Amino acid sequence: MTEAASIRTPYGAYFMGDVPAHDSELTETGPGTPMGELMRKFWQPVCLSRELNDLPKAIRVMGEDLVAFRDRTGRIGLLHRHCSHRGTSLEYGIVSKRGIRCCYHGWLFDTDGTILETPGEPSDSRLKDSFRHGAYPAREHDGLVFAYLGPPEDLPPFPIYDCYVEPAGNRLVPYSIWHPCNWLQVHDNVMDPVHAAFLHTRMSNVQLTESYGAVPVLDFADVPNGMVYIGSRRIGNLVWIKGNHTMLPNFGQTTALWETAEKVKYFTGVSLSKWIVPVDDTHCWMFGFRHFNGEVDPQGLGREDQCGVDTVDFFGQTGHRSHEAMQREPGDWEAQVSQRPIAIHALEHLGTTDRGVATLRRMLRRSVRGEYDPRTELTRQCESRKPIHTHCYDTVLGIPPRSNGDDRDFLRELGQQVVGAVMDADAYDGEERREYLRRRMRELETIHR
Ligand code: FES
Ligand SMILES: [Fe+2]
Repeated sequence: MTEAASIRTPYGAYFMGDVPAHDSELTETGPGTPMGELMRKFWQPVCLSRELNDLPKAIRVMGEDLVAFRDRTGRIGLLHRHCSHRGTSLEYGIVSKRGIRCCYHGWLFDTDGTILETPGEPSDSRLKDSFRHGAYPAREHDGLVFAYLGPPEDLPPFPIYDCYVEPAGNRLVPYSIWHPCNWLQVHDNVMDPVHAAFLHTRMSNVQLTESYGAVPVLDFADVPNGMVYIGSRRIGNLVWIKGNHTMLPNFGQTTALWETAEKVKYFTGVSLSKWIVPVDDTHCWMFGFRHFNGEVDPQGLGREDQCGVDTVDFFGQTGHRSHEAMQREPGDWEAQVSQRPIAIHALEHLGTTDRGVATLRRMLRRSVRGEYDPRTELTRQCESRKPIHTHCYDTVLGIPPRSNGDDRDFLRELGQQVVGAVMDADAYDGEERREYLRRRMRELETIHR
């Protein structure tokens, strides 16, 4: 039987037993791998600040065993986990006034890898000056610890995004979520808006709001550092346009979680910013900030006290429910983790609604092959010393259905007009940018009403 015939055979599982290899170019991130090298060129979150107390914390990032600690003067250290004397794990070390001391023979390591003391050696020993212990730069921002695991000469500036400080009064609350699967299938999700209509609304229960149940008309746009999806939904006499932003390689943002799209709004921003950080090729952490402000959550449904280590305040995000509960009402976590330890792209059958996922993977592939450098624009933005623009928004416009029945075409066109205005708004910053956007949204509404 030919291969083409075998895949059309009823009860034909017998012919489909082969599982092709995973897409190693995009999924593997260990030292020396192309994707690993790309990710190492960016600041990556590695734990929450609150996880660093008087004890060191063993962590694993992109296949590297490390130890993180905060020394008693408050400096963050991120070192190779195994002592460079004889390999004892520094997770059993003693956090010291300056650096960390190995429990076995007392060697003392500074946060930059300098060996400060080898107390068992003769006082005139030069051993400690002849090499350094493996160390990476680390820093904190609003409760997340970020590290740079790339070559020291390529240390990038640390990006500060506009949504950290906008709208006025926004509060960032750090969280993390453990995923026993490859990083990319968790990251893919940010460019898959259609799953919200099915997984989050129609399949078992309404997990966010009823409005997500309308399948969006989809489009996509290139923006600095990455892409946005434009999901346009017809909700009665309103049009809800949602744009989520992903920046290469592994940063993504989501708009209002509990958007009801019941009334007009011209531009609201981000409710979570998240990085998918590989632990190894079959495990990853999502580290993120939940954004708490009245603009994205006017009803105050968010719960800051439920955000933390392996916990966040909305449904279906962690692996802590009973297996039965997961089966009866699966959420993002079950859908993504269950795609296999590493999702096999060669077994997928991508359709029109997967265009975002396919585009994201294509952009990642171009980046690992050096055909596109996602650091260039980010570095330029960092050097401008202004908060970096993000392009993540909900807009709800009062525009009735088109009388000629071409609503889906119209929704796509309107989505493009909204994202065009968002691009034009890059000429402005802060509240001026937001005011410009609100004005442009009002204009679109007037034109099309
Ligand atoms: S193994 Fe760490 S000091 Fe000896
Ligand atoms: Fe989701």
